[in-house]
Amino acid sequence: MPQGIAILGSTGSIGRNALRVIEALGPEYRVVGLSAHRNVELLAQQVRRYRPCWAAVTHPGAVAEFHARLEGSARHDGKSGDREPFAIFSGTDRLVELVQRDDVDTVLTAVVGAVGLPSALAAAAAGKRLAIANKEPLVIAGQLLTRTAREHGSVLLPVDSEHSAVFQALRSGSAGEVQRILLTGSGGPFRGASRADLEQVTREQALQHPTWRMGPKITVDSATLMNKALEVIEAHWLFGVPVEKIEVLIHPESIVHSLVEFVDGSVVAQLGAPDMCLPIQYALTHPRRVAGVAPRLRLEEIGALHFERPDPRTFRALPLAYEVARAGGTAAAVFNAANEAAVAEFLTGHLRFVQILELVEHCLDRHPVRSGTSLEELLEADAWAREQVRQKLRQTV
Ligand SMILES: NC(=O)c1ccc[n+]([C@@H]2O[C@H](COP(=O)([O-])OP(=O)(O)OC[C@H]3O[C@@H](n4cnc5c(N)ncnc54)[C@H](OP(=O)(O)O)[C@@H]3O)[C@@H](O)[C@H]2O)c1
Repeated sequence: MPQGIAILGSTGSIGRNALRVIEALGPEYRVVGLSAHRNVELLAQQVRRYRPCWAAVTHPGAVAEFHARLEGSARHDGKSGDREPFAIFSGTDRLVELVQRDDVDTVLTAVVGAVGLPSALAAAAAGKRLAIANKEPLVIAGQLLTRTAREHGSVLLPVDSEHSAVFQALRSGSAGEVQRILLTGSGGPFRGASRADLEQVTREQALQHPTWRMGPKITVDSATLMNKALEVIEAHWLFGVPVEKIEVLIHPESIVHSLVEFVDGSVVAQLGAPDMCLPIQYALTHPRRVAGVAPRLRLEEIGALHFERPDPRTFRALPLAYEVARAGGTAAAVFNAANEAAVAEFLTGHLRFVQILELVEHCLDRHPVRSGTSLEELLEADAWAREQVRQKLRQTV
């Protein structure tokens, strides 16, 4: 039987790359489910091409248009000898049910933000293979998600290129032999900038990433280094390594995707072109390696690779990540939610670039950290932080 894959967020940057990867992998892999939020035009094209068993539209206002776009297509009316009926679902809540279906073996989480937490948790509780691109749920609820996966036999597979690299490098030794994890990051478009330089940053500048083509939220996170901050917490939970053993190294070429130093001094790295197809593919085919669509690395064309320390005084997100990880409980939910809310405001032109981190710090300073052992408590902390951002914005307007 082919491996049945559900892609949550199939119309995004990761989702679109994942479909290319799966198509190239051939008949051993099958797209069984897709979801999109508003981009029903692209979702309808994907349904016609990949013929999943179901598709979900999470924005309630977009469902009718999706039906209309599929009207008359063979897949929609179930005629023309389709083997299974095709079903359309609506609403984010439905994703929780859909990931548990028997036709789903692997769930690729590629929606953006905390909204992916309930479905990721449901997939882990149903014992599915979970290919995680959507890092925010792991940041917010790392303990809950990893424990649920362990208890229900769900395998967590990183899609983030850095974590995929660490995951691969860790195969060179045992957990007790790990000295340090070195997460690399390009440094984003403002590498080397001073705090004063950042005061002038525009939305367009923040959306110009030097090496990766990604969705808008993660691109802004890469510019503030919040993405790297979230990745430190993500690595902590995924690999069970204390944050003190996780360091960040700026590497502008984005070729060395991350490294693991072992106790004997050996450093094992994974290298590749800056293209998400390879880590997506590895998450799907693990533990096997097969040929695929990822571009080949030609080191002789790159010539030199550079590494430097990040600047924690200008890019405050990084030191905050370590504080948040040490605080534990609901702190990471607040850290993430405040950032999500602030980035959304920045993208709609209501906030300056430097205010993103100011708002995150504002929320963290005011938050009484709670244990964060239940999903309800984590979601409450998330909602509280978003409300704090809204209130602060109302005060400043
Ligand atoms: N892009 C990368 O290279 C990359 C690398 C590593 C990790 N990641 C992580 O992967 C995740 C996706 O990133 P991306 O760059 O692919 O984002 P993206 O291009 O913005 O795509 C986001 C996807 O999520 C859907 N979506 C948006 N809002 C939603 C909501 N409220 N409920 C349900 N679905 C929603 C979108 O649907 P519509 O298109 O219909 O709006 C789209 O399919 C993020 O967590 C990011 O941090 C991305």
